[in-house]
Amino acid sequence: MIIKVEAIIREEKLQDVLDALGEMEVHGLTCYQVMGCGTQRGMKSYVRGHQEVEIHMLPKIKLEVLVSSEEWEKKTMETIQKAAYTGNIGDGKIFSYDVRDAMRIRTKETGPGAIQPE
Ligand SMILES: Nc1ncnc2c1ncn2[C@@H]1O[C@H](COP(=O)(O)OP(=O)(O)OP(=O)(O)O)[C@@H](O)[C@H]1O
Ligand SMILES: [Mg+2]
Repeated sequence: MIIKVEAIIREEKLQDVLDALGEMEVHGLTCYQVMGCGTQRGMKSYVRGHQEVEIHMLPKIKLEVLVSSEEWEKKTMETIQKAAYTGNIGDGKIFSYDVRDAMRIRTKETGPGAIQPE
């Protein structure tokens, strides 16, 4: 089983999340800068009580971690949630997906072994 945990977090929370993931056995991750918006559509203000209709994109960080069990999926999601939390709107989202396969290019190993230490 291979599961991808994907988190969209505040830029300023990246180091906290990396520190927290570093405390657990994480064997690899990918992160990149993205632009996005959530339910508030990135809005900053309300005009005369009406919501702005325009969508504003805000800079965020996207993190991807592949894990090999539902137990690690849960642990990873909980760890990221704790470390990325401020309690304000825009804290981000965490998604998880089933991954069909993975391959370590150097060894051609596939399946869960490709994402675990040799
Ligand atoms: N439905 C979605 N589809 C794709 N990406 C999303 C979705 N919702 C949120 N995101 C991504 O997550 C980022 C942060 O979203 P955000 O935290 O604002 O979600 P929210 O549902 O509005 O929660 P909150 O009410 O706490 O703000 C967005 O900038 C966007 O990149
Ligand atoms: Mg939001």
